[in-house]
Amino acid sequence: MATNKKPGNWKKRTLAVRGGQTRTAFQETCEPLIFTAGYAYETAEEGEARFKGAPGFQYSRISNPTVAMFEQRLAAMEGAPIGRATASGMAAVNAVFMAGLKTGDHVVSANALFGSCRFVLENVMARFGVETTFIDGGAIENWAAAMRPNTRMLFLETPSNPTLTVFDLKAIAAIADKAGARLVVDNAFASPALQRPMEFGAHIVVHSTTKWIDGQGRALGGMILCRQDFLDEHLNLFLRNTGPILSPFNAWLHLKSLETLELRMKAHCENAAKVADFLAAQKKVTKVLYPFRPDHPQHNLARAQMSGGGGVVTFEVAGGKAVAFKLADALGLIDISNNLGDTKSLITHPETTTHQKLTPEARAAQGVTGGLMRLSVGLEDADDLCEDLEQALKRA
Ligand SMILES: Cc1ncc(COP(=O)(O)O)c(C=O)c1O
Repeated sequence: MATNKKPGNWKKRTLAVRGGQTRTAFQETCEPLIFTAGYAYETAEEGEARFKGAPGFQYSRISNPTVAMFEQRLAAMEGAPIGRATASGMAAVNAVFMAGLKTGDHVVSANALFGSCRFVLENVMARFGVETTFIDGGAIENWAAAMRPNTRMLFLETPSNPTLTVFDLKAIAAIADKAGARLVVDNAFASPALQRPMEFGAHIVVHSTTKWIDGQGRALGGMILCRQDFLDEHLNLFLRNTGPILSPFNAWLHLKSLETLELRMKAHCENAAKVADFLAAQKKVTKVLYPFRPDHPQHNLARAQMSGGGGVVTFEVAGGKAVAFKLADALGLIDISNNLGDTKSLITHPETTTHQKLTPEARAAQGVTGGLMRLSVGLEDADDLCEDLEQALKRA
């Protein structure tokens, strides 16, 4: 490998473009996409040394040069010592729990959670004797009250999917620290462009890089960001031996996407703020949730933890599911989809899609009602988006 530019004390924008880059002997300017399952050793001694931990690659289930570049770049942007890329966001969440917990351990989790994350805790981990207490995480005292001597992890998403609840990372991290437990934060909705949970004391951060990091709806991916102790004690051997690693192709896409993440998120936030204000002025809209609007329940906290309100706006229409469906079906520009974090605006009805598998009680506890819609605001002109919503609301 030819040497890379020497990393200086670079700011986030520079890290997004330059972080983690290594060049091959061809001295390419664009990061190389290296497709290989294995690596050849000059000598048997070199093979032995690699398996004893000498620098270099062994097998692409363990690591790959393109994947490693993506891991290093995202870790640098997030201010995390270690990054490990996985095949999807759920592979990252699952690996953190499976690697870090054992029978008899206890987890405290916010109940405002993406459906699959809840499934893993409630069904998969429960089968292995790991119990989870789901709480209304908005009140700090609920976290403290739910702690047990065997609590090993605290888990939350902030802002959460789909109700955009914002949690106090500093206060919750302090509760974890006091108990010798780890706070795990799903940062998929904010991305490192808007929020760096480790700065507030989080021990582990997970991402669905499928969302804002890819940003163009092309490929699935995930990332685990952690400190050396978690890697050494739990994660490293688990990942090597169970194989949830990201493919080099998807890693390359997401690596290149990081270069424009800050610029894209700025534009998504501007568009989302305009659309949120537009929706708040509509008669049929009974509620608008957007972290940077003053009427958001945790508005001050959002401004303290995040540098932008994000690209998702959640709102509720009067008339429940029937009106929500009519609205979605009447849209002429915005697509109906369960994905988010795309250049294209996407609308979701969480009750019947992403949160369908939850019990009615669990949905109610999260505020997922029949009239609730989640809008991932894309990079189209905000005026066109508002016009589309206006005509659809009229027909709903
Ligand atoms: C907050 C959150 N975490 C995790 C995931 C899972 O990510 P993936 O679809 O990449 O597995 C999602 C997906 O929608 C999500 O919204």
